[in-house]
Amino acid sequence: MSVKRILVVDNEAKMRRILELALKNMGHHVELAADGEEALAAIERGVFDLVLTDLRMPRMDGIGLLNALGERKVEVPVIVLTAYGTIETAVTAMKLGAVDYIIRPFEMETIELAVSRVLAMQTVQRENQFLRDELSKGWDEFIGVSPSMQALYGLIRQVAPSRSSVFIVGETGTGKELVARALHRASGRKGLFVPINCAAIPAELLESELFGHAKGAFTGALSERIGKCELSSGGTIFLDEITEMPPALQAKLLRVLQEGVIERLGANASIAVDLRVIAATNRDPQEAIDAGRLRRDLYFRLNVVRVDVPLLRDRPGDVPLLAGHFLNHYARELGRRTPRLAASAMRQLEHYDWPGNVRELENLMERAVVLCRGEEISPEHLPAGIAPVADKNTPEPLPESLSDPGASLSLKTHVESLERQLIEAALKRSDNNKAGAARLLEVSERALWYKVKRYGL
Ligand SMILES: Nc1ncnc2c1ncn2[C@@H]1O[C@H](COP(=O)(O)OP(=O)(O)OP(=O)(O)O)[C@@H](O)[C@H]1O
Ligand SMILES: [Mg+2]
Repeated sequence: MSVKRILVVDNEAKMRRILELALKNMGHHVELAADGEEALAAIERGVFDLVLTDLRMPRMDGIGLLNALGERKVEVPVIVLTAYGTIETAVTAMKLGAVDYIIRPFEMETIELAVSRVLAMQTVQRENQFLRDELSKGWDEFIGVSPSMQALYGLIRQVAPSRSSVFIVGETGTGKELVARALHRASGRKGLFVPINCAAIPAELLESELFGHAKGAFTGALSERIGKCELSSGGTIFLDEITEMPPALQAKLLRVLQEGVIERLGANASIAVDLRVIAATNRDPQEAIDAGRLRRDLYFRLNVVRVDVPLLRDRPGDVPLLAGHFLNHYARELGRRTPRLAASAMRQLEHYDWPGNVRELENLMERAVVLCRGEEISPEHLPAGIAPVADKNTPEPLPESLSDPGASLSLKTHVESLERQLIEAALKRSDNNKAGAARLLEVSERALWYKVKRYGL
């Protein structure tokens, strides 16, 4: 990490000195201030990457400092030091924008960890912010800087302003809906973004959902109803899972697109609409056409621009960014501090093949935040299935030392050692749940109990 500029604010000279030494030892540039006012003056003179401040100080205290920074819109991360028993003040500080708090008395290691974590987070955030500003103005919820995502941002920017239909293809969870929303937002169209999931609505209701109906048009049509097409006029209609729309309705939709008018069911007035259609599917469109699920003529009409959303496994470099983003999000939702991802857990994430793409990663991070009681997410907080493929089914190769003429060839010794390793792995993978471990090992729970006792696990 490059040298960072850190401001230490404390009224106790001794404490300032201790912190200064520790932070200088970490290789950072340190300046000192004895209270909030001195700190503000220093911040106004120079740029700091981090402020470490005591809460209780004469003249301006830590809370006063946070308030003053907020008023001046200075966006420097602040870690507050608080005495045991004044946690409420720490909470106030967090509400005022402090990124972390440390309770006195503390170990130097705690300070070092907190400082490293905040600085690392800040670097990622700055890079992310910069790239996002550069690449994807206004679509703040897109995470990902891989070349394939950059190409996607470019394509979205390019096609958004036109009225051309867009056909989005991508496996489940890749972010198709996110793309559709981004297209709408960047289009400058004033109307609504109206999503409709063709798979989620019963076929017989889909037509009235799309086009609306007059009162009494069919049994159950108790009142007049505006369809989604009409609702989206001037905006964008997003036809998700288009291959699940019955072919007869696809034909009708095609006519509407060609003529630019709709009729509510059971009414005989036509209504002119200004439609922009975005359709999506997680199937291969050609296969869907061959199977008769997607009408070729509608496909040609919709597929003016095709957008393929990259698979997560094809852009492993984005996994850490996305993981960090979701950890932050779910920790905040639960009112918790964002846990770190242990390097071993990160490795697993980077090597996993993500059949459920970004949504699967999002779900895993949510689950991990809930399961993780401490500060660090380790492989135990991840589901068993995402362990690297290599150590899934292949047992450890036999040790090289076996070729050594003096090595023990005792079957009993080696089998026991392997058995022990497998049991340990199964227990770990099942979060120490004996029934789960027994299932993984394909032995009875009783047999497992016996062996666990025998090996003292
Ligand atoms: N690049 C990304 N950056 C941040 N979040 C993302 C990204 N891509 C997807 N997500 C998130 O992942 C989840 C799934 O995305 P979305 O619903 O757009 O996927 P989808 O392709 O429509 O999936 P499905 O085919 O299952 O409907 C959402 O919560 C979305 O916000
Ligand atoms: Mg979707």
